[in-house]
Amino acid sequence: MKYDVTVIGSGPGGYVAAIRCAQLGLKTAIIEKYDTLGGTCLNVGCIPSKALLDSTEHYHNAETTFKEHGITITKPKVNLGQMIKRKNDVVKATCDGVDYLMKKNKIDVFHGIGTFKDKNTIVVAGKDKKEVQTDKVIIATGSKPTILPFIKLDKKRVITSTEALNLKEVPKHMIIIGGGVIGMELGSVYARLGSKITVVEFLDSIIPTMDGTMGKELQKATKKLGFEFYLGHKVVEVSAKGNVVSVKAESKKGETVEIKGVYCLVSIGRKPYTDGLGLENAGIEVDKAGRIEVDDHLQTKVAGIYAIGDVVKGAMLAHKAEEEGTFVAESITGQKPHINYLLIPGVVYTWPEVASVGYSEEQLKEQGRAYKTGSFPFKALGRARASMDIDGLVKVLADKSTDEILGVHIIGARAADMIATGVTAMEFRASAEDVARMSHAHPTYMEAVKEACLAATDNRPIHM
Ligand code: FAD
Ligand code: NAI
Repeated sequence: MKYDVTVIGSGPGGYVAAIRCAQLGLKTAIIEKYDTLGGTCLNVGCIPSKALLDSTEHYHNAETTFKEHGITITKPKVNLGQMIKRKNDVVKATCDGVDYLMKKNKIDVFHGIGTFKDKNTIVVAGKDKKEVQTDKVIIATGSKPTILPFIKLDKKRVITSTEALNLKEVPKHMIIIGGGVIGMELGSVYARLGSKITVVEFLDSIIPTMDGTMGKELQKATKKLGFEFYLGHKVVEVSAKGNVVSVKAESKKGETVEIKGVYCLVSIGRKPYTDGLGLENAGIEVDKAGRIEVDDHLQTKVAGIYAIGDVVKGAMLAHKAEEEGTFVAESITGQKPHINYLLIPGVVYTWPEVASVGYSEEQLKEQGRAYKTGSFPFKALGRARASMDIDGLVKVLADKSTDEILGVHIIGARAADMIATGVTAMEFRASAEDVARMSHAHPTYMEAVKEACLAATDNRPIHM
């Protein structure tokens, strides 16, 4: 039998692409090298990290804010084994959900490494052994952690996010190389449980790809949790001996610091994963960064072979991969879909959460665009005071003359969910005043967005 489409990789890019292909009437197969479906996101990424973030935030609140709320409990204890077990249960249920969706949509699943024999034949080697004949192929093989060449990753003391999601003890001291999304999220997990966290970041700011205000505010909030930061420091040596890891880093002035800890988490970004795909057998090329080259339709230079998600250019985010999966399925069937990459939101699931969409202030400055800013702090909001989540602010950037919203940046409780309003407003090209004039339920965190829009419109917030 020949399939209309074969998807290689079952992460959020691949499984969504497969479902949309099947919905559109294409006979679809999906190949996954691991035993469970769901890719990085469901198995060792988005879902397990959020499960641990939620558990540890409960613990942190029990330790810190319950008393103030008038709840007296005996000192809570961490049962890390149970936390990890619950996380594993959540992962299993979510991966099983993808299995169910494959069956429901009559998608054939093959477990094993998929390798191109030629552009229409994929050899599956592993649990299933098969040659799959196919008209079109969607490559969705994702990414793997980047490691500095001089670092020996022993996966015991010097680890990546995958191991950090499965530790058997709460580390006394975790050194984190890279103050990006993984570093700040997993650092928060262990800081809440009592670990000392030291972040060594090459640039002068943490979460450096986001609006600068967000990095500054998140640094303030996580310092309260006990995070220690070495910004503008380049790691030059990492060694592990017995139970001790040592990280040497150089400041811009050339001064060297040596930090000793128990674990070192390396989170300096991820790189596209194409090992074992046999791209050369199909005539597909990768760029200098190892990303599969695609055109605006996400098609490689070989007609009928597409690539999506972390393995191609753009943000390495699950929802970006999903949009691309849908985009390719619809393109294949003759539709004219569209993705607005500027409006893919970015979220850091720390507490407070950070969420952004559109341009950052730094990007607008670089473009020389005339803009205005409106900000509103959560501490001025009744709802935030009621729940004791007063850290953070909403920052809205709007065009100076037209008032069109150009960027929304939120750091605060529930920012991850609130950013959807920024996406909606920007998709419909709303002005700051459009949003400011809409009724926002009281008392809610969303009122801070309205107030920031009032501030951006003509500096007339009500509650500040
Ligand atoms: P992947 O999810 O990486 O899936 C690729 C799949 O392809 C894998 O299952 C792999 O086994 C399989 N594969 C590879 N080669 C072959 C082959 N030759 N044959 C068969 N199968 C193959 N993003 C968010 O948006 N929100 C978050 O909260 C978030 N949290 C994260 C937390 C962590 C700790 C990490 C590491 C990542 C997180 N991400 C998050 C990023 C997100 O996981 C990725 O952007 C997303 O998984 C990319 O999806 P994908 O489909 O492109 O690839
Ligand atoms: P990242 O790109 O977010 O952060 C890496 C950080 O490491 C950057 O701040 C960078 O300046 C720094 N860095 C790079 N080289 C360094 C060096 N030699 N020494 C010190 N610092 C160095 O990458 P991260 O955190 O590894 O995450 C990988 C990807 O996974 C992210 O790009 C993100 O897209 C995705 N992800 C998304 C999440 C979310 O959406 N909430 C959560 C976790 C991961």
